[in-house]
Amino acid sequence: MFESLPKSVSVYEVSPRDGLQNEAAQVATHAKVRLIEALVAAGLERIEVTSFVSPRWVPQMADGTEVCRMLERHEGVTYSALVPNARGLERAAEAGIDEVAVFLSASETHNRKNVNKTIAQTLKAFEPVISPAVARGMKVRGYVSTLWGCPYEGEVDPARGLAIAEQLVEAGCYQVSLGDTIGVGTPVQTGRILELFLRRFRPEQIALHLHDTRGTALANVLVGLQLGVTTFDASVGGLGGCPYAPGAAGNLATEDLVYALQGMGIETGIDLERLWQAGQVAEAVVGRELPGKVHQAGVRSLAG
Ligand code: HMG
Ligand code: MG
Repeated sequence: MFESLPKSVSVYEVSPRDGLQNEAAQVATHAKVRLIEALVAAGLERIEVTSFVSPRWVPQMADGTEVCRMLERHEGVTYSALVPNARGLERAAEAGIDEVAVFLSASETHNRKNVNKTIAQTLKAFEPVISPAVARGMKVRGYVSTLWGCPYEGEVDPARGLAIAEQLVEAGCYQVSLGDTIGVGTPVQTGRILELFLRRFRPEQIALHLHDTRGTALANVLVGLQLGVTTFDASVGGLGGCPYAPGAAGNLATEDLVYALQGMGIETGIDLERLWQAGQVAEAVVGRELPGKVHQAGVRSLAG
């Protein structure tokens, strides 16, 4: 039943961005850097460290340049940032970012609330981002959000998301991360969405960005694994949400993902004990309890 599972998986860590963007109280820049360093120490090699969006829209990410300046760069680690437009790319390039991620939603209403544009206008705004970034030697990733459901419109037709993803890849994105932004997805739905996308893309061109709002994220990961997906976005401790998506609490916790992958014999290159420690750092940084299951239960076996 599980013979075809991949041997290794790449984890794309989003806690410093998707996690912290949602915090009401301003997190100190040095605390953000401490979290990123703890994630690197755990073996994470792809980390979305900040976003270069409008500070009016997401004040929590206003210190992106400062975060990048204070970070010690480690070989083998890709430092990414979310950017909405050419201004964001400029700021990311100045900060020495390796990879940028553009983002839009499969539903018009969420897209409008998040970036104040229609989907068509947003794709247009990426023209001076994607190919100039590639020309500068940066990698570009794309997000398609609200694919499993929209907090404003309800059900979303996956074919609309596929059409957007096709345009992102055509424009130069090496990977498209499919977002269950509000964590409503269930496994059969995930299978249907992925089968549609895999008719058009190779598995390595797809990542899954799952929020665990209703406890279904890991079940959806398993469907992804069975269909050959090998990149999963996650956030340590389950920190996260989207400020323009009500109810988008809790990304899939990195510890829960890595615990499950390790148990299935799938390599990640991540040290679970150190990852758990990074979760403790995240908790201290935000000053409240985090929802991740492994974060709460610990990583040692009862016998150990
Ligand atoms: P706007 O107000 O329509 O556009 O915002 P604007 O161009 O008029 O810009 C407004 C102000 O922001 C101006 O400043 C610009 O200069 C400035 P002012 O003249 O008023 O002083 N500005 C910028 N400043 C710094 N960096 C920039 C930048 N761009 C403009 N890059 C805009 C349009 C897209 C900028 C805005 O809506 C925005 O920044 N939105 C970002 C929202 C966001 O970050 N949401 C959370 C991330 S998405 C998410 O969480 C989902 C995801 O995790 C996947 C999933 O879960 O599915 C990725
Ligand atoms: Mg998200």
